[in-house]
Amino acid sequence: MSHRVILPADLGPVETNALLCGGVAPRPIALASTLSAEGVRNLSPFSFFNAFGSNPPTVAFAPNRRGRDGTVKHTYLNAVATGEFVIAAVSHAMLHQMNVASAEWPDGVDEFPKCGLTPVPARFVAPALVGESPFQMECRLKQVVELGEGPGSGLMLIGEVLAFHVREDCLVDGILHPDALDLVGRNGGAFYTRASGTAVFEVPKPAVRPIGYDALPEPLKQSRILTGNDLGQLANSPALPDLTAPVRHPGDPASPGELDMAIQQALVRHDLPEAWRLVGLRMHA
Ligand SMILES: Cc1cc2nc3c(=O)[nH]c(=O)nc-3n(C[C@H](O)[C@H](O)[C@H](O)COP(=O)(O)O)c2cc1C
Repeated sequence: MSHRVILPADLGPVETNALLCGGVAPRPIALASTLSAEGVRNLSPFSFFNAFGSNPPTVAFAPNRRGRDGTVKHTYLNAVATGEFVIAAVSHAMLHQMNVASAEWPDGVDEFPKCGLTPVPARFVAPALVGESPFQMECRLKQVVELGEGPGSGLMLIGEVLAFHVREDCLVDGILHPDALDLVGRNGGAFYTRASGTAVFEVPKPAVRPIGYDALPEPLKQSRILTGNDLGQLANSPALPDLTAPVRHPGDPASPGELDMAIQQALVRHDLPEAWRLVGLRMHA
């Protein structure tokens, strides 16, 4: 399959935004709660958002200049005026209320009653927490980074987290569990992702010094059956086992193709020792 090369210089800000949103995805959503200098609450979602450091805990999001006319958003004005914001993670149960908050409500409108989410007093900052959110951060604005000037240009707000608010049931054995959080992410267009249930899976961390793909036996790399993911799991092994005298079991497949399929099935079961035993047989098939 060929790839299309697209140059930003050939695109307008709206098309560029669509490309970024589709390809840099799924993105977490920050439901940002702010207060204007006059004390009016604001609540709006932003998916140009992430965490960037743990010491001090640092997050950033970008209420950018509008692609349409280059004007700035209330959230940006409020955060810069007061130096404070709260970021609430968005769970699936909050999805459509978050969507109401994203509408371009006029200046001076408090989005909390508009979307029906519940303002709750925070501990260290004046903007409200969002009662329904399973995970929230009270933040102090540390830095504003302007990324250009025209319509669609970035206005990145970097904040230090003063306090986390974690819903009790989300902490399972000291880890925030994705099924309890049930967060949603943003893709391109009108697409969203739900990060729980069958969409969530675990991947074992690689060995401290994995053997690497280039150390895999050549017949495996030439296989028409084993995929990049299959070979990646073998390449993550801490050491190349001795393949010279593999243990044979009754009923083991004999042909290279059948052995490759058996290796693949062992990897699906995450049974790495069995996969390597079968690789040994494969080397002598
Ligand atoms: C899920 C979602 C993510 C969004 N992400 C961004 C974003 O990262 N940056 C941005 O400028 N606007 C983003 N928007 C649009 C803003 O939420 C929207 O412009 C909002 O009306 C801004 O409100 P404000 O002027 O009260 O700050 C997003 C909208 C939705 C629904």
